[in-house]
Amino acid sequence: HGVFTYDPAFTATCSTQSDITYIDGAEGILLYRGYPVDQLAENSSFLEVAYLVLYGELPTTPQLDEFVGAITQHTMLNESLSKFFDGFHYDAHPMAMMTGIVGSLSAFYHDTTDIRDDGHREIFARRMIAKMPTIAAAAYKHSVGQPKMYPRNDLDYTSNFLHMLFAVPAETYEVDPIAAKALDVLFILHADHEQNASTSTVRMAGSTGTNPYAAIASGIAALWGPAHGGANEAVLNMLGEIGDISQVPRYLEKAKDKDDPFRLMGFGHRVYKNFDPRATIIRGYCHEVLQHLGIENHPLFELAMELERIALEDDYFKERKLYPNVDFYSGIIYQALGIPINMFTSMFAIARTVGWAAHWCEMQNDPAMRIARPRQIYTGSPKRSYTPIDQR
Ligand code: CMC
Repeated sequence: HGVFTYDPAFTATCSTQSDITYIDGAEGILLYRGYPVDQLAENSSFLEVAYLVLYGELPTTPQLDEFVGAITQHTMLNESLSKFFDGFHYDAHPMAMMTGIVGSLSAFYHDTTDIRDDGHREIFARRMIAKMPTIAAAAYKHSVGQPKMYPRNDLDYTSNFLHMLFAVPAETYEVDPIAAKALDVLFILHADHEQNASTSTVRMAGSTGTNPYAAIASGIAALWGPAHGGANEAVLNMLGEIGDISQVPRYLEKAKDKDDPFRLMGFGHRVYKNFDPRATIIRGYCHEVLQHLGIENHPLFELAMELERIALEDDYFKERKLYPNVDFYSGIIYQALGIPINMFTSMFAIARTVGWAAHWCEMQNDPAMRIARPRQIYTGSPKRSYTPIDQR
């Protein structure tokens, strides 16, 4: 039967080779296609980074113009798809709606989902990146009972998203450029992270040759959990629960207590055993955004910084190399921008769609690709004979 390696939770198994993202967890380094993420956050736009992640090189001006034009052209949802939202109860979680709606995209594009066709794969990736903000904003509008806003093609990707989220038909809505820039940076920082749980899920589903939109839906489902993308929502709920700086030591003790299920959300990472470089950039942006919005002494930001300070001095966190991760500070920016807590993980999903699509496309070209099929070590009963029900 061959010899298998038992590797629960895949801490030592490389499932693939990939050219997309490089992480050095010990040094806290993150590169997309070789470019440090801090340089991209500083200089680039989300769609330029999307191009880089998908195609492997930074675009020239004509290449970027063509790409942005194509994305803009695909932002609308089919009107029948829009009606799907009406089937959800008003208090459905946006991630629940997104899992369902994105899965249903698989029923719309039969003519362009030949997964062996390069052109079809490209249209899929572009369509997916274009439609995610429209779907996320529609999920929000459904939950607050407001009419859905059509995309505006004169706005850039992130500004258009803020417009679809916050504009209402009866009123004028001006997108705040600093808010749009902050959100764009957050999207850049979440665009890819190599073989994380949701990307591995997309690859696993994709390895069977399933419809790519269905594969992305499986990634959204995996992202939702609090150990992964759901952590940004969990951090804000946790900060709310802690409530006050005076309570920080008590909650740190709870986080250290193995009999207490409480964990410090937004802390720790499977790969980073040093500062998550994304968290450092986001903390800097927190200062800038809060200052711009005139809420410098934001109580949750102060609470988060105090939590970080005390945790980093604590032996428990030092010994286990637990540092703030990407989600520790992102929620504070989302909240300052007026985005409701239950939408935070959808923000992550919009950005990570780039990585999911890039990994799905990469694997279709990989000659080593076969159906992913992990093995197991059987620990159940040995073979036994059926007992009739009256003899049990
Ligand atoms: N609070 C308290 N203790 C922790 C934490 C935490 N947040 N994270 C890890 N530990 C402890 C854990 O109890 C274990 O201790 P011991 O060795 O004594 O049993 C040790 O540190 C190693 O943890 P692990 O659970 O084996 O590590 P993992 O690689 O399986 O899990 C993680 C990584 C991110 C799921 C985990 O650190 C965690 O649950 N963090 C909180 C949730 C979170 O912020 N997730 C977002 C991750 S970054 C963005 C993303 O991926 O979406």
